[in-house]
Amino acid sequence: MTWFIHSALIGMLAGSGNSNESFVVADRVGHPTPGPLFNEGDQENNLLDKRTLSRVLRIPVCRSWCGQADKGKGRAGSSTGMLADPKKQKAGETSEQPDPVLVFTEPEIIHILDQAGNVVIGSGRSGRVWAGLIPDGFRGGLSAQQVAVKEYSFRELKTFHLWEIEREHLMKLNHPNIVRLIGYFHDKPHDGQEKKALVLEHVPGGNLKERIFGTEERPEVVPIEWDKRVDILHDVAKAMTYLHEKNLIYRDLKAVNIVLDPEMNAKLVDFGATIDGPRPPNTFIQAPETMGTPGYTDPSYRKKGRASIGIDTYSFGVLMLVVLLGRKPISRKGKDLAVKINGKKYKSRALDFLLSKKLRPSPYQPKELQSLIALARRCLRKASKRPSDNEILKEFQDIQALRPARHR
Ligand SMILES: Nc1ncnc2c1ncn2[C@@H]1O[C@H](COP(=O)(O)OP(=O)(O)OP(=O)(O)O)[C@@H](O)[C@H]1O
Ligand SMILES: [Mg+2]
Repeated sequence: MTWFIHSALIGMLAGSGNSNESFVVADRVGHPTPGPLFNEGDQENNLLDKRTLSRVLRIPVCRSWCGQADKGKGRAGSSTGMLADPKKQKAGETSEQPDPVLVFTEPEIIHILDQAGNVVIGSGRSGRVWAGLIPDGFRGGLSAQQVAVKEYSFRELKTFHLWEIEREHLMKLNHPNIVRLIGYFHDKPHDGQEKKALVLEHVPGGNLKERIFGTEERPEVVPIEWDKRVDILHDVAKAMTYLHEKNLIYRDLKAVNIVLDPEMNAKLVDFGATIDGPRPPNTFIQAPETMGTPGYTDPSYRKKGRASIGIDTYSFGVLMLVVLLGRKPISRKGKDLAVKINGKKYKSRALDFLLSKKLRPSPYQPKELQSLIALARRCLRKASKRPSDNEILKEFQDIQALRPARHR
């Protein structure tokens, strides 16, 4: 039983993890929805969709999408286990150019998963994320390391095509607060099921949602200490600023898409919803499909599908509330935290009251909480009134600059 089939079976038995978290509301440019286009044998439609995606995202159509042309040539998309074509990376990124991305074969992926004991470490709408281990001497130039293998399950028709989008974006990104793409695997046998996976740096500290709220199996959590919570948000703000400087809109900022390393540094994962932003940057673009997560998504964007960099700022505001107050983005009664925080009842309450019961016993800095909640509220205003990335960064830098005096 291959790891794909194994995983698909687990997925069918267990449901697809936090699949109800994200949504794809509608296809606003009227091109066909992705699912059926990836049916086996529907090659022409498949190509059509890739070109549409390429046009909308302004990314080159990967040659490996276009059938068998690359097979055996050792380029991206072939099964020969060579380096992907570095020319695809943008010019002018010399100093911060990402490492070349590797193309893995199926036996290699199986070996990498076996080495780590075939353990699932996460799941989402696309499928399962597995622990992997690249052993010493695996391939010339590649050091031994732990990796995470994100499998795109062919059963998840609505998200199967996001592999291309996520891979193309990650290939161009190089930032300490963004997960590093090590390589990928793609196979489309004539007589079998298409298989896709990404090989990522393994960030072993769990995702921010489970670190704040726990999981069904492990509901008890140790509250993340105050300074760390502020630092995590600062890390996310840095990653967002980097993306926005590249005119990318991330579109699905939420606690479950942030993973932590052992030092509690935050890294952003999951670039399937990322799109190129509008030009000039402070305008809007009609998004190809409205993607996001209830509670985190700018209501105006959710309604009209018009995206700008500001929709990430809105989600960042919600994330700040979630991390600082320990409250869920949507209450059990279905109320948005972003709406509640600006309601009369909440505005007049002391901030101490807003902290979740889980967080109340954990020490915090009242002044810092106050200024950060004020910043979060600004992020939730209408688009034109939201703070810029630099204003957000400055707020965090100011707080951090005062820390040494506090610790004296
Ligand atoms: N590189 C990684 N290292 C460690 N854990 C990871 C890594 N990538 C993903 N995960 C874990 O797997 C989970 C799912 O990953 P990801 O968000 O990329 O999947 P998805 O299917 O695209 O999710 P969504 O449901 O948000 O669309 C994450 O929430 C995280 O817990
Ligand atoms: Mg995710």
